[in-house]
Amino acid sequence: MSYSESSAPLLDRLGRPFRDLRISVTDRCNFRCSYCMPEQVYGEHYRFLPKGDLLTFEEIVRVARLMIGLGARKIRLTGGEPLVRQQIERLVEQLAALRGLQDLAMTTNGFLLAEKAAALRDAGLHRVTVSLDSLDDEVFRRMNGGRSGVAPVLEGIAAAERAGLTPIKINTVVQRGVNDHTLLDLARYCRERGYIARFIEYMDVGNLNGWRREDVVPAAEIVERIDAVWPLEPIPSNYPGEVANRFRYRDGGGEIGVIASVTQPFCGDCTRLRLSPEGQLYTCLFGTHGTDLRGPLRTGATDAELLDLITGVWRARADRYSELRAQLDTPRTKVEMYHIGG
Ligand code: GTP
Ligand code: 5AD
Ligand code: SF4
Ligand code: SF4
Repeated sequence: MSYSESSAPLLDRLGRPFRDLRISVTDRCNFRCSYCMPEQVYGEHYRFLPKGDLLTFEEIVRVARLMIGLGARKIRLTGGEPLVRQQIERLVEQLAALRGLQDLAMTTNGFLLAEKAAALRDAGLHRVTVSLDSLDDEVFRRMNGGRSGVAPVLEGIAAAERAGLTPIKINTVVQRGVNDHTLLDLARYCRERGYIARFIEYMDVGNLNGWRREDVVPAAEIVERIDAVWPLEPIPSNYPGEVANRFRYRDGGGEIGVIASVTQPFCGDCTRLRLSPEGQLYTCLFGTHGTDLRGPLRTGATDAELLDLITGVWRARADRYSELRAQLDTPRTKVEMYHIGG
């Protein structure tokens, strides 16, 4: 009997059930966002994972199937940039066919979305979340390491909408003095098109982005600034453990979300596991090490053995990094964001 059929959900040490699987399909990206993969570090000579180290689609699908048996209801594909993985739509197709999965989404930078949206939809992807930090070309370029202007991303978003990859969410990482003067434009753009703008507090993920607390614009301030132009009111979460706090425009102009992981951590109901491109399982975005699944997958582990391994990892889990951040005096070495996809 699988956990989904039994009455007892799989719980970790803090009593949290397992619900969401985030799968990073590649550590590569065609952008170099300063808060994630700064150009100075990930330059021409940086060595990404060799192809043979990546989990194959068959391996990913096997893990996903087992995870659904353990309670996963949502799968999100991330990266790096998931659309740079060859034939990603083939993986989508196989995941979409898994019984018991309720939500299959992707977080992408949108650069390749115009050419991929229709194929992704045909393969069975439900929806996309597109990262877009500013509508101002110069600001956007500065943030993505000069890899793209805004236009290709906007074309990608429009193609996703035409393909029906909705509701479309737009993720904006907010950095004080970098892009926070351009947030109202983004809010307006999303309002006019029925997209959900989501403003994310800049986080201290990884070890290389030089994070400083002063650079974070608190979610409450973001809400205040938008509310001053288009009045907002809070609305309830869609599901327990939703990362974004939701607000709707009082004039009926749709909704926004703010992700306040620095000022209002949400570890209390964190239901997520993260699978890295080379098959390490992480129980926290700020994890220091993962549990290897690729070894067992490649040396003939049975489903029962893999289930035991994964169950053990979840049961032992006690992570709540964002809640503890303030109390940690020595910075710890964390997994890099582009590696486990945020
Ligand atoms: P929905 O499925 O639409 O609710 O999206 P989501 O919020 O799960 O996914 P998305 O990839 O859009 O994440 C939005 C932002 O929240 C990203 O910056 C993530 O890094 C951040 N985020 C997601 N999950 C966690 C988490 O478990 N902990 C922390 N600290 N941040 C997270
Ligand atoms: N802080 C907050 N969000 C981040 N993301 C990447 N790095 C950071 C960071 N340091 C976001 C991306 C993407 C999502 C998966 O995570 O912009 O939208
Ligand atoms: Fe690439 Fe996304 Fe990281 Fe930017 S935030 S470098 S688009 S993986
Ligand atoms: Fe979950 Fe770790 Fe994020 Fe807290 S910091 S919400 S435990 S992933």
